[in-house]
Amino acid sequence: MAGNGNSPCSGPLPGPFTSTRVAAKPTSKGGFSRRSFLKGSGAAVAATAVATHGEEAQAQENAANVVRGPKEITLNVNGEDRKVSVEPRMSLLEVLRQQLYLTGCKDLQDVYVDGADTVMIDGKAVYAGLVFALQAEGKKIRTVESLRQGRNVDPVIDGFVKHDGMQCGYCTPGFVVATRVFLDQHPTASLEEVQQGLGGNICRCGTYDGITKCALELAKGGA
Ligand code: FES
Repeated sequence: MAGNGNSPCSGPLPGPFTSTRVAAKPTSKGGFSRRSFLKGSGAAVAATAVATHGEEAQAQENAANVVRGPKEITLNVNGEDRKVSVEPRMSLLEVLRQQLYLTGCKDLQDVYVDGADTVMIDGKAVYAGLVFALQAEGKKIRTVESLRQGRNVDPVIDGFVKHDGMQCGYCTPGFVVATRVFLDQHPTASLEEVQQGLGGNICRCGTYDGITKCALELAKGGA
């Protein structure tokens, strides 16, 4: 298609880039004249100045909105509104563990496991270590602790026990939460769907077989 004028490389770039890119006119010799080059450069500089001014204004507006010190917020955790004081840098995981003492979710990002910090946010499985606490304000957060209320134990927990899916225990709460969320979303899941759906949790203990059996058994019974 090259040479017909419709090649992706032959025309101006689409979208916002077109406004700041200035093409110099080719001379009769096939090159670029100094005059057209200077005209093009001047327009480019002007366009850049306009863009820079806009970016500066945006940066100033962003800076005015930045939260600097600790901020009092309310997090809805396991059905209760909990007041916490958080710095902007704090993850939800830190706040859950260190301020609310919900230690089921674990911080194991640096030891070759993944998903040990899984919690539910608005019904979705989320790594609490990758969410700022401030971002979780106004959402419904559930931790593994919510899956047992006195004698009421979620069937996923029973299933982990029955099929020996507990592993050494560190990643287990995150796996339990991920399995609960997965079954809520896929109550009649197949083996392939279970393997894919729980793929975000990785653990050295590797009792994946027991966890898979638990999930499949619950899926067979309608979760
Ligand atoms: S290392 Fe994950 S449960 Fe043991």
